[in-house]
Amino acid sequence: MPTVRIPNDASRLPMTLPRLIEMKQLGEPIVMVTAYDYPSALAVDTAGVDLVLVGDSGAMTVLGYDSTVPVELDELLMLAKAVRRGLKTPFLVGDLPFGSYEVSDEQAVQTAFRFVKEAGCDAVKLEGGGTTSVARAQAITRAGIPVMGHVGLTPQTATALGGYRAQGRNAEAAKRVHAEAVALQEAGCFSIVFEAIPSAVAETIMRDMQVPVIGIGAGPSTDGQVLVFHDLLGIREGRGAKFVKRYADLLDEMVAGVAAYAADVRERQYPAPEHGYTMPPEELERFRS
Ligand code: KIV
Repeated sequence: MPTVRIPNDASRLPMTLPRLIEMKQLGEPIVMVTAYDYPSALAVDTAGVDLVLVGDSGAMTVLGYDSTVPVELDELLMLAKAVRRGLKTPFLVGDLPFGSYEVSDEQAVQTAFRFVKEAGCDAVKLEGGGTTSVARAQAITRAGIPVMGHVGLTPQTATALGGYRAQGRNAEAAKRVHAEAVALQEAGCFSIVFEAIPSAVAETIMRDMQVPVIGIGAGPSTDGQVLVFHDLLGIREGRGAKFVKRYADLLDEMVAGVAAYAADVRERQYPAPEHGYTMPPEELERFRS
């Protein structure tokens, strides 16, 4: 088990946009992680992370879809509301699901409002740095909602990108990722996620980034890192992407715990006397008679 340092209460002020920019300027690494429900929110809040994303990865990690594409806006809003109830200090970002922002600026702004008004999110994230995503980021930002961009591997459009694979691995593709990141920054995004691009490409693009950049599979040069809660804690089958570092094997522990309970029930070891309720003997007598 790695040594953990949980920040004391004095350093647990609510995360704000100015503080994020200050962290970038001071070179303090920004910690972001996903959460999808009340217990995962309690865990990440207690661990003292800076940013929490209700990722559309929840489509797969907690809802069991085989990609992020089918998840509905109302499903993600329900997850976001539960996360909000478990958080005190981290900055909460809601992921706009596929199909909830691409059609028009109006659709994008309306969806973003729902994440803020109904689920209590501080900001929203959208995928892609093409003209559509840049226009939507600008429209939402102008409506007063902070937007996080996301370039590189964007799972909502993985089919168009040729599958779940690293992006920007030749000069033209790297230039495209660079141009998209700059366009999102110019559109007003407060932060951008770089996913699955070569470390050297990320390092080069970072020279032009004034907003905090959060990496996932983009090497060490970004201002912060994000991982999916279920990947880092091993609440999944298989090891996941190359960039995942696993800090626990909770699925194994969950299976072992439930198997031990099942064995206890089958062997009549559970419940034991200490798990039962008692009543005054005279009341029992009266009841029986
Ligand atoms: O949905 C998600 O979890 C994400 C992160 C991987 C950035 O978009």
